Amino acid sequence: MILHIDIISIVPELLDSPFRHSILQRAQSRGLLNVNVIDLRAYGLGKNRQIDDYQYGGGAGMVMMAEPIYLAIQTLKKERSYDEIIYMTPDGEKLNQQMANQLSLHENILLICGHYKGIDERLREHCITREISIGDYVLSGGELAAAVMVDAIGRLIPGVLNDETSALLDSFQDGLLSPAVYTRPADFLGWKVPDVLLSGHEAAIENWREQSALERTQKKRPDLLDDEL
Ligand code: ADE
Repeated sequence: MILHIDIISIVPELLDSPFRHSILQRAQSRGLLNVNVIDLRAYGLGKNRQIDDYQYGGGAGMVMMAEPIYLAIQTLKKERSYDEIIYMTPDGEKLNQQMANQLSLHENILLICGHYKGIDERLREHCITREISIGDYVLSGGELAAAVMVDAIGRLIPGVLNDETSALLDSFQDGLLSPAVYTRPADFLGWKVPDVLLSGHEAAIENWREQSALERTQKKRPDLLDDEL
């Protein structure tokens, strides 16, 4: 199975690099992920390829017009049937690991990147199936948010990660942060790796890791533990 992600953007250049390296590059070369960026300008209106206009009722800031985005969606829909058409927006539901897990099981996803004051509300009512935010802050456009989504989702597609990097041990997968990790040397400037990790005692190591994950979560993100209650 391959996950196909189309992204509609007015700054496609912003998405040139994020998917061409490391794990996402591997996902694509293994034929598990396909990312395609569509330049919204190609669907702009008139000779200026207009994609935005003043907002009704007045007020500062332009709004992305319904028609170019609608045309782009209709054209893309002729090629594939989307499981979700997602608008990246700070007022959407906040992305978390569970959502990334679910989205990674889809086959076709369309992401729409907003700019300025956002897109005409009628698109949100009639064309968008889901609205997602990557956090409670405002970016200058949806592209970086879309890149974050593709990264979070793409690495979860079965076959993308090798055993040693398995996503099952990631922070958040079991509702906890990951345990502390160390590598050589065992003594750096007198700062020592916990003895148990050098002991070769598998059960003791597993126990230490569980404890470390729990302590970190209690200290850094106690809210994750509350959620479980
Ligand atoms: N566009 C602008 N800010 C955003 C955010 N926080 N999440 C998703 N899309 C956005």
